[in-house]
Amino acid sequence: MNINNLIKTLTIEEKIGQLLQIAPFFFIQELEKEVSGNITDLGLTASKIFKAGSVLGIGNATEMIQVQKRYLEKSRHKIPLIFMADIIHGYQTIFPIPLALSTSWNPSLFHTMAKVSALEASTAGIHVTFAPMVDITRDPRWGRVVEGLGEDPYLNRIMTAQMVKGFQGDDLKKVGHLASCVKHFAAYGAVEAGRDYNTVDMSRTRLFNEYMQGYHAAIQAGARMIMTSFNVVDGVPATVNKHLLRTVLRETWKFDGVTISDYDSLHQIIEHGVAENDSEAAILGIKAGLDIEMASICYVNYLKTHIESGKVDMALLDEAVYRVLKLKDDLGLFEDPYKGASTLREQALVRCEDHLQKAKEAALESAVLLTNDGILPLSKNKKIGIIGPYAKTKQTNGPWSWHGRNDLNQTLEDSLKHLGVDILYVSDQKVESYTDEEINVLKQMDLLILALGENERESGEAHNRSDIKLPRHQEEYVSFAKRIMKPSIVVLYHGRPLDLTNILSANAILDAYFLGSMANQAIAELLTGIHNPSGKLTMTYPKSIGQVPLYYNHLNTGRPKVKGIDNEFTGYYLDIDNEPLFPFGHGLSYASFFYGQMRLDRHDLHFHETLKIEVDVTNTSEIDGHEIVQLYMRDLAASISRPVKELKGFQKHWIKSKETITYSFQLTPDDLGFSDEQGHLIIEPGRFQIMVGKDSEHVQSEIIRLHEEVKS
Ligand code: GLC
Repeated sequence: MNINNLIKTLTIEEKIGQLLQIAPFFFIQELEKEVSGNITDLGLTASKIFKAGSVLGIGNATEMIQVQKRYLEKSRHKIPLIFMADIIHGYQTIFPIPLALSTSWNPSLFHTMAKVSALEASTAGIHVTFAPMVDITRDPRWGRVVEGLGEDPYLNRIMTAQMVKGFQGDDLKKVGHLASCVKHFAAYGAVEAGRDYNTVDMSRTRLFNEYMQGYHAAIQAGARMIMTSFNVVDGVPATVNKHLLRTVLRETWKFDGVTISDYDSLHQIIEHGVAENDSEAAILGIKAGLDIEMASICYVNYLKTHIESGKVDMALLDEAVYRVLKLKDDLGLFEDPYKGASTLREQALVRCEDHLQKAKEAALESAVLLTNDGILPLSKNKKIGIIGPYAKTKQTNGPWSWHGRNDLNQTLEDSLKHLGVDILYVSDQKVESYTDEEINVLKQMDLLILALGENERESGEAHNRSDIKLPRHQEEYVSFAKRIMKPSIVVLYHGRPLDLTNILSANAILDAYFLGSMANQAIAELLTGIHNPSGKLTMTYPKSIGQVPLYYNHLNTGRPKVKGIDNEFTGYYLDIDNEPLFPFGHGLSYASFFYGQMRLDRHDLHFHETLKIEVDVTNTSEIDGHEIVQLYMRDLAASISRPVKELKGFQKHWIKSKETITYSFQLTPDDLGFSDEQGHLIIEPGRFQIMVGKDSEHVQSEIIRLHEEVKS
């Protein structure tokens, strides 16, 4: 398709229409309103509706075919609609929420999740997914940590690249793939006070060193779109931020894909106080480099006037339209406007056994054993009661799983019984409502499983919490078990790091997040030891919300509080220490691993050389299991203050009982560098600490020196 020739045939209204994204019910009134909010009363005329370029959300193949057919019948130019949706961690087969999946430290699971999601979503005629969400998150009050990949830039970019490749596959024209739209550009996870949509403000040095790596990794992996975030950056809303959308994206990163606003975020710049009205917003958007306007109508109502008056160059409109039409062409929509939509493929692929099995495998690696006094794995022939608000839950898909079917999920009781576990009592009622008879029954149990946590609407977009303790007095279940002297195992269903300080008296805590369609089957296999837990935290768990933000890769400050040293004038609180409850990288196994002395092949590194690091890990237990070993680095003196630790590698291996595995890592001078405020890599010679360990706190370290580059 010759896009430039096609553009020449379009009227200005038709060009502007290609930059409008609205919901499917605009085209067919009786369609279910899957998308809510302002979009439902935009007051668009039919003429503008049937010039739109893309659709936000669609229910299934039948609907997509109906909408596309109706649209093409009414369209003069016959340019097909492109269908986009939020396929974040599964379509109908739901995988663990991304925050949970990231605790697997297994990039291949992200590729699998994305590939399966694309196969299923494409059967509904969806062409683009608004994923991966790669916003770095350090504040557990923020509801959207649930869909992110945690606090570390290195882990983030490794997982991000795999998701983009999994969604897009090897050829976007082929059925079964989705174009990836990475989001939310930029630094949306740094909203002040963990309050969604709130102000983000940081130096460009921090922005590039700590927040931008995921977006860049997605683009390097070939992501075809990027979505702007609701927040300001440098005081300018990201949606009209020319530095982000043109200087960084186009000039520095050479991105030639499509930019899209978030829902209504172009119109919202009025609320930000950066435009008087939609007319001004339209000018700011197109000049900043925003292509598609999602769910608002600044462009479609005002761009024509601004171009005709000379305020906006037609060239700016043409370049945006070109990128949208190029994406449609690369997706093969001109050849087949109904690409992918097939009720037959829906029946064959959506929530099929193979996909459910893959979701279960992912879930098995995405839970974190936080504490265990040896009560786990469950011994056989134990009489067990399950209590707590989530004792009967099937709500395990978590936020951003629109097409998922919680009703088809299994309960923990059924999953455990299926494995032959003796579940004799199940109740989700409050502790204070137990009758004496019920308490007597509970006293007959050998142990209690306490199903605690948050419900699905306590995390996700706009669902922030000012405190991160277990809600609704759930800690009482742990105290109750203590009172009746019953061993207890806490299973947590939730979407953010929680303050668990008051439930450490439980005998074990298995952190199961929202593990998706096969959650309880996986939890049952983990509790019984059929599968050995291996997950490790990718967000720090604080002792108190008062410590937040608390993350492992922090700067040292000039007066660090050193554990065990009593120095009044250093950085600490009078009422709590600076240590997390569980550090980044923490996670237990039923096996036990002994780390040998780390080995470096050199302590002097020169440019164009590679440092090799090895450590032998022995499984000293009788149980086989995965062990994730992490490699960290610290730049001890640079032209800017550098974090006390930075993850620079990780490896996950299966180690049989009594077996020893050598974990090998490599670092080059590039890996020791940092970004300047333009995002360029700076490598400075000097001394570096190299560390390996089982988590960010338990590490062994050695010092190396990087020597000056010898200019040839
Ligand atoms: C929402 C979210 C964004 C999502 C979009 C479309 O407000 O911020 O992540 O992709 O709207 O649903």
